[in-house]
Amino acid sequence: MFKKLEKDVLGFALTDCFLKRSDGFLINIVRDDGHISASNPEDWLSNKFSDMEKGMLSVIKTHSRILDIGCGAGKHAIYLQEKGNNVTGIDISGGSIKIAKKRGLAKAVNTSIWDFHPKEDERYDYVTLFGYTIGLAGNIKGLKQILSKLKSLLKTKGSVVLNSVDWRNPKENIHQNYQKGKIGYKGLVKLRLEYRGKKGNWFDWIWIDPDILEVISKNLGMKCRIIYIKGRFFAAQIYNELK
Ligand SMILES: C[S@@+](CC[C@H](N)C(=O)[O-])C[C@H]1O[C@@H](n2cnc3c(N)ncnc32)[C@H](O)[C@@H]1O
Repeated sequence: MFKKLEKDVLGFALTDCFLKRSDGFLINIVRDDGHISASNPEDWLSNKFSDMEKGMLSVIKTHSRILDIGCGAGKHAIYLQEKGNNVTGIDISGGSIKIAKKRGLAKAVNTSIWDFHPKEDERYDYVTLFGYTIGLAGNIKGLKQILSKLKSLLKTKGSVVLNSVDWRNPKENIHQNYQKGKIGYKGLVKLRLEYRGKKGNWFDWIWIDPDILEVISKNLGMKCRIIYIKGRFFAAQIYNELK
């Protein structure tokens, strides 16, 4: 998990795109074995949602207090704000937060989730992590810590809505080959972002499977419900187990 962002490659890319300077440039997500997947910054600013995103958005009741962690340029936070919710977006990328504000997100805060400490009476109905952002937990210990932190941010009847990639899927051999010979949880990767010659710092990322998510949630007194699944992609809602 990274707490401090030294090179804001993402903010640079999203600013470029917002100012219409991106001209087809892609954000490369580089893994430490050289594997590259590309992401179009235009997708981060678009108002089109995939079926999985639609599934995640559909569980959110309107007039709610929502915290969107890793909000990027505000794609989901702005949509939820327009639907009548009270939304706060936070992101470690200062450049992304500036764009989210320019695009109309009223409450956009440049901070890491680890440094975000709202007051006791400012709990949320929903904490959302779109775009696989739960991966910032970095490893299993981080996953336990972040879920515990998210629980503390929720109202009693609140819930966390997140998505990830189940690396165990047999068709997911880009992860399985990478992990061959490594010990420990197999969803761990080391990544960095590159955009137009700028290279970010390496950071740890975790792809989680639904079973480990359920076990960790249960240990925290929470339930995990799968709300979308297609191939290796899944989304889940995690909420307090009320007696
Ligand atoms: C995969 S992107 C998803 C962006 C956005 N939610 C979306 O779906 O378009 C992950 C986001 O999390 C942010 N991020 C990474 N670590 C963070 C942290 N510790 N606290 C807050 N945001 C963080 C990144 O800057 C990035 O914007």
